[in-house]
Amino acid sequence: MAEPSLRERLNALREQLHSYSYHYYVLNESTIPDAEYDRLFRELQEIEAAHPEWQSADSPSQRVGAEPLAAFSQVRHETPMLSLDNVFSEAELLDFDQRIKTRLKDSAELSYACEPKLDGIAVSLLYVDGVLVRGATRGDGRVGEDITQNVKTIASIPLKLRGTGWPEELEVRGEIYMPRAGFARINDAARSSDGKVFVNPRNAAAGSLRQLDSRITATRPLEMSCYGIALGDGEAWFHSHSEGLATLRDWGFLVSPELRVVDSIQGCVAYYQDLLARRDGLAYDIDGIVFKVDSLALQEHLGFVSRAPRWAIAHKFPAQEEITQLRDVEFQVGRTGAVTPVAKLEPVFVGGVTVSNASLHNFDEVARLGVMIGDHVVVRRAGDVIPQIVQVVVERRPATARAIIAPDLCPVCASALERAPGEAVLRCSGGLVCGAQRKEAIKHFASRKAMDIEGLGDKLVEQLVDAGIVETVADLFVLTAEQLAGLERMGQKSAENLLAALLKARATTLPRFLYSLGIREVGEATALNLANHFGELPALMAASEEDLIAVADVGPIVASHLHAFLASDYNREVIALLQERGVNWPAARREGGAQPLAGQTWVLTGNLESMTRGEAKEKLQALGAKVAGSVSAKTDCVAAGTSAGSKLAKAEALGVKVIDEQQLLQVFADNGEQ
Ligand code: IVH
Repeated sequence: MAEPSLRERLNALREQLHSYSYHYYVLNESTIPDAEYDRLFRELQEIEAAHPEWQSADSPSQRVGAEPLAAFSQVRHETPMLSLDNVFSEAELLDFDQRIKTRLKDSAELSYACEPKLDGIAVSLLYVDGVLVRGATRGDGRVGEDITQNVKTIASIPLKLRGTGWPEELEVRGEIYMPRAGFARINDAARSSDGKVFVNPRNAAAGSLRQLDSRITATRPLEMSCYGIALGDGEAWFHSHSEGLATLRDWGFLVSPELRVVDSIQGCVAYYQDLLARRDGLAYDIDGIVFKVDSLALQEHLGFVSRAPRWAIAHKFPAQEEITQLRDVEFQVGRTGAVTPVAKLEPVFVGGVTVSNASLHNFDEVARLGVMIGDHVVVRRAGDVIPQIVQVVVERRPATARAIIAPDLCPVCASALERAPGEAVLRCSGGLVCGAQRKEAIKHFASRKAMDIEGLGDKLVEQLVDAGIVETVADLFVLTAEQLAGLERMGQKSAENLLAALLKARATTLPRFLYSLGIREVGEATALNLANHFGELPALMAASEEDLIAVADVGPIVASHLHAFLASDYNREVIALLQERGVNWPAARREGGAQPLAGQTWVLTGNLESMTRGEAKEKLQALGAKVAGSVSAKTDCVAAGTSAGSKLAKAEALGVKVIDEQQLLQVFADNGEQ
């Protein structure tokens, strides 16, 4: 009998897939590779397609979304969905605590549950006999919209409860939100495809939930964190709010990992300070903290006032979005000549700092926002992302507002500006003739991963260029103590240190040198590939575009930038001068760039005595090895210095070859990499 066993397989697959997504989305642990999950998921879909009569509302296949609806139907909330009163200061928070104590006629300290106030959309989930049967928005608190199909696509929402002991009917409430990384990802995609760009993660979450086509919702990175259980007339089977949330966790819901219970209002104050300090590092936006009296008996005693509970309060954080006025737009020229419009704002305190500048990125972005000089704009600063203008408050546009006009000439060197077809960016055609590009090029040349000139910071580069002492990177190597002594904030000691650092930096490697030239699209990895491929600079300088395309990871665009850069007389002269003035690198000793370690994956761990790990990495890469950050069965060799830890243990467990520093030095010596 084939049927029962196929049916059993179907059930087993459903259980397995539920369990995997619970571990992945709720517990944040990865239990199986994605590919394995996808394979099982497809198998489930195939069985269900062959047997539509076996389809079930709680099958993991429901996560992909369903046929679009004509409209959302309405849902009446048996227990109204209330809102919270807000406080904005510690004094107001202490008043809240005092009011409760007075009302309870008891001055004993109270235990509070503390939770982040997620900035998303409040949602109610209804489970009957452990199966999700309805998801609804808050609406006006009494009547919301039925978004069942949409919530089913959210992987952190259980379609079926785990564990045991749940009541026949369970209503859970929480917040659906979009983590910042997912928000950035969908907006980046929307920008490059002229799709809808959302103002903030909250709008993105709301827009994604409001889709009549749940297949679209399924593609959006949404999560739900649960913060409450709507108790009907039934009796509570736990005594405190925190116990209730712990139970929800057991049943498969995502509950904030930041949930804490403190034993007094002072504990709330400390919790607020702690989370405020960590706010930027969280994966999602929060707009404050919610404090709730933890005891359900006391909650009941305290009751509600109009639309908010007396036993809970939201302590709001400083806003991450504020309105301010755009005073002017300046045009900044970067290292590659890209002209960036920068908004000069009426200073505004947002996301914990005062913001007076914000990048407008490019002229497509200016057009998309429809922003004009004089406009009131919404500035957002959340996480460690630079401040952004996300919206124009069109209703407040003054009659004097002026359009932002792209300049024709470079604001720094007056060379013509060009816009390549299909590119959003306007570029100065002046190259290193342009003072702005020169400054940026010199800063890049001096940076740590390039020539690593210690003590040559951005401010100093600007002074050197502005004073006319340095025009090209080659001028750095003929600087004198007298020239430096004349500069602001430059003592004799720092001048000596800088000259010593310049002397030292002259000995470099070919990949670093190529990277330091700041050729468009040539990052560290490409520079390394070029050096390995050509072995010597003259061979690279003589290469045609076709020869360049033959290098790993070099496509036609990179090849054309490289070729144009190396063909320029100006650049060739600078390169020659640099070499004349002592910049050097070890000559390639291997015939035709032979790479004895090509195809091998190496891992470096522990402390090396004779060199840094970075240096060892460069040498291994020069020999053709790929240097990875973690050990796997595919690792060919682990070079372990002293105090090596888990990577060494893993290598030993997997039987991967391990060598010590002496043996590593021998490998270098044998292959001419001293
Ligand atoms: S409790 C009766 N807890 O804030 C109490 N709300 O201003 C109901 N929110 O509509 C809410 N995080 O959407 C609660 N940890 C949290 C919350 C939270 C976010 C939202 C919720 C509510 C709004 C109230």
